[in-house]
Amino acid sequence: MKVLKSTVYHPIDDVIKGENVIKSTKVYKDAKSFYLNDGCLDEETGMYDVYSYTPDTTCKASLNWGLTVLYPLTVDGECNMTRGHWHENRECTEIYYGISGKGLLMLMDEEGNTWAEEVCEGSLHHIDGHFAHRLINTGEEVMKVAACWGKEAGHDYAAVEAMPFGYRVFKDKNGKLLFKEVKR
Ligand SMILES: [Fe+2]
Repeated sequence: MKVLKSTVYHPIDDVIKGENVIKSTKVYKDAKSFYLNDGCLDEETGMYDVYSYTPDTTCKASLNWGLTVLYPLTVDGECNMTRGHWHENRECTEIYYGISGKGLLMLMDEEGNTWAEEVCEGSLHHIDGHFAHRLINTGEEVMKVAACWGKEAGHDYAAVEAMPFGYRVFKDKNGKLLFKEVKR
């Protein structure tokens, strides 16, 4: 029997490395519209990195594996967060797995009802395809969250821009979180 080496590795304290892995970095100038106020950060400040492993297959129901690395930054007091999205294909679900750091997985249904789950080392989160989702780093350390989702899911950012998440998450000087409701 032939025994092959894996072509991709994801050491738990590192990032995904190997074939068919793409890294993208969101910098402040491309993220500032997510926030209520301008935090006057350097335009090139790295806010988060996303690593995606897309297996080379023709199977339509193929799964992707990813990692989000969200830095412990605030923007005028608002906690650093991902852009957030629905899946274009609402029938595609996703699983998030907290690796390190702490924060929130914000979820929103199609009526705009918004809530969150605490993300920490070892937490596992099933995301229904009918819920928009966003990660927020509320801690003082880098937050790392792995993800597994269907290749056919796609990303629907426009729907989140049309109906933003119902809350914004701020942090005061003592680290206390403040949830501000978004007026629609
Ligand atoms: Fe997703």
